[in-house]
Amino acid sequence: MERTLESIRQDFDRDLANAASSADYEQLKVAYLGKKGRVTELFKELKNVEPSQKKEAGQLINTLRAEVEEKLAAGAEKCRQAEEERLVNEAEAYDFTRPAEAEQGSLHPITLVQREVEEIFASMGFTIEDYLEVVDEYKNFESLNIPKHHPARDMQDTYYLDNGQLLKSHTSAAQNAIMRKYGAPLRAIFPGRCFRNEATDASHENTFFQMEGIMIDTDISISNLIYFMKTMLSEVFHREVKVRLRPGFFPFVEPGFELDISCLICGGDGCPTCKQSGWLELCPCGMIHPNVLTAGGIDPEKYTGFAFGLGLTRLAMMKYGIKDIRTLNSGNLKALSQFTAR
Ligand code: DAH
Repeated sequence: MERTLESIRQDFDRDLANAASSADYEQLKVAYLGKKGRVTELFKELKNVEPSQKKEAGQLINTLRAEVEEKLAAGAEKCRQAEEERLVNEAEAYDFTRPAEAEQGSLHPITLVQREVEEIFASMGFTIEDYLEVVDEYKNFESLNIPKHHPARDMQDTYYLDNGQLLKSHTSAAQNAIMRKYGAPLRAIFPGRCFRNEATDASHENTFFQMEGIMIDTDISISNLIYFMKTMLSEVFHREVKVRLRPGFFPFVEPGFELDISCLICGGDGCPTCKQSGWLELCPCGMIHPNVLTAGGIDPEKYTGFAFGLGLTRLAMMKYGIKDIRTLNSGNLKALSQFTAR
C-alpha cells in the first residue's frame, strides 16, 4: 500500500509540473480526485488491507488526498494569476493615443449655427452664457413681467415637474440670473434648449433651441437693436437678408417687435415651412421692460436695453434648407451629417 501511495505521489508531482493551463488542472483533478480518480480508488482498496493496518492506511490516503488537493488549488491559483497578467499585458499593448480608425462624427446643424452666431456676437463684445434647462416659475415667468394667471403663459405651455419646477420654455428665463450676475452695463448672449407642450408639425417641435441676447447700457435704443440684428444676419447668411419688423407683444419688452426674414427655402413664394406666408418669424425682440430690469437689480431710470430671442432651430433650417424641423431631433445621421462641413 505504501509503495502504491508513493508511486501515485510521484506521478502526481510529475503531472503537476507539466500542467500549464486551467484546463490541465481541471483534468488532473478528475484523474486523481474524481469518482474514478487514482486517490479515490485507493479508498476502495482499503477493504483488502489487514484490519490492524486499516487505520494507518486510511490516514496515509487522507494525507495524500489533502496534499493533492492543496497542490492542485495552489497551482490552479498561480495559473489563474498568470493568465490574468497576460490579459492585462495584452491590454497594455493597446495604444490609446492612436487616432480612431472609424469614421469621424459630425457636428449637429444647430451646433454649427450656434457656434457661428456666438463667434459673431463675441466679436461685438458679447459674453456667452450657459444656463439651466430646469427652472422655477419665477425665472421663466414672474421675473419677466408675466404674473401668475397672465394669459401670456398659455402660449408657453411646457412640462412641469412634480416639485413645481418646469422645463424652460424660452431662453428669456435666464435674463434675470444674468442681470443679477453681471449688473449693468451688460452685453450677453445665452443659447439654450427650450421646451413647449406642442403638437408637432413641419415647423413646430416640443424641444428646440433659442439664442437670447441682451444689451444694457445708458442710452440703448431700438436703432442699436436693429444694427446688431442686421449685422448678425448678414454674417450668418453671407448676404443682405430681407427683414421686416412688425409690432409684437411680449410682456417683458416695451415696445416689442417680431423680426421676420424672407423664407430662404421658397424664396418668399410660400411653402409649408413658412406656413405659405413667404416670411419666417425669426427673432422677436424689443426694449427690455422696466419691471424686468428692476427684477434683475438694474435701475431702469439709469439704464435701458434691448433683448432678442433668436430661434436657433429656425435659423439652422433657413441656413441649411431643412424643410422639416423634426429632422433635427430625429437622430437620423444620414440626414444630419449632410449639413456638416468636415
Ligand atoms: N421668449 C420669447 C419666446 O420664446 C421670445 C422673445 C421675445 C425674447 C421678445 C426676447 C424678446 O428677448 O425681447 O416666445
